[in-house]
Amino acid sequence: MPAVDLRSDTVTRPTPAMREAMAKAEVGDDVFGDDPTVKELEARAAALFGLEAGLFFPTGTQSNLAALMAHCGRGEEVIVGQDAHTYRYEGGGAAVLGSIQPQPLANLPDGTLDLAMVEAAIKPDDPHFAVTRLLALENTIGGKAIGRDYLAKALTLAWKRGLSTHLDGARIFNAAVKLDIPVNQLCAGFDTVSVCLSKGLGAPAGTVLVGHQGLVDKARRIRKMLGGGMRQVGILAAAGLYALEHNVTRLAEDHANARRLADGLSALGFAVEPVQTNMVFASFPKEACAPLQEHLRSREILAFITPRARLVTHLDVDAAGVDAVLAAVSEFRGLSRAGGSR
Ligand SMILES: Cc1ncc(COP(=O)(O)O)c(C=O)c1O
Repeated sequence: MPAVDLRSDTVTRPTPAMREAMAKAEVGDDVFGDDPTVKELEARAAALFGLEAGLFFPTGTQSNLAALMAHCGRGEEVIVGQDAHTYRYEGGGAAVLGSIQPQPLANLPDGTLDLAMVEAAIKPDDPHFAVTRLLALENTIGGKAIGRDYLAKALTLAWKRGLSTHLDGARIFNAAVKLDIPVNQLCAGFDTVSVCLSKGLGAPAGTVLVGHQGLVDKARRIRKMLGGGMRQVGILAAAGLYALEHNVTRLAEDHANARRLADGLSALGFAVEPVQTNMVFASFPKEACAPLQEHLRSREILAFITPRARLVTHLDVDAAGVDAVLAAVSEFRGLSRAGGSR
């Protein structure tokens, strides 16, 4: 087991207390609607977000895809950011499996979409064009928290132009903790929100899609079609319930550790982008990337070191772990200087 793993917040291992909750979970066949723990998780998540219904998925990718397919019919269009996970990192699933046309727009440096560009991208009612059906946003995006003011403006535009709305909230609790606003207020007005339990919240797997009843009902049919109907999955839902109960407010610690890492790297002379949540983006000379990654690995530290490296803090990284990373980076610089070649 590595001492510190900064590759992603998906690497966390369930704690003994979470495992105990999983072991004790009451279960049933969830495809038959028999699993009380899954039902409890779905209801708890829906209530937290002030939405009517919830639906448990194995992954965020499947939850996003089912949501997009619930919103859009074949040949309909989603307006989405170039950097959005649903567009860029989900294998083109919405197009491949949902026959949904993406209309990607460049994300602004703060992660938002320019609303004038969104409006201009909405297609007129003309048979030449796909029917623009959905606006899909993401929060946090690239570690940046998007505030309520912007979201409210985006929703108002969507309503004015008859679009439905989906939020990829894989890390919505990081945004809520950073912005100090409850998730039901931050996300108010979205038709569906996909909430990952397996990232900062520390569950081994699982995402809940929350939304209006009709959309969640549609997503349930689609989930079955996509092979995501699971059976005695209360074992995983119990981890999700534990995560919602115990691992939300502590996200502030991950954010503090990310700042500690950023400050330390900056003090060592590396360019670091401003940190908002649990992601640090730091610049490393191209030729130093592979040797630094290897050096860190030799010190039991896992990180993807690239010219613009993303380093992620989470439940299994504490301040001492951050200090160990900084010491290893500093040691690498010392060795490089002595060797003169890096
Ligand atoms: C913003 C965002 N959305 C969705 C996902 C997909 O989640 P999963 O890996 O559970 O499919 C990820 C995964 O990293 C993500 O970062």
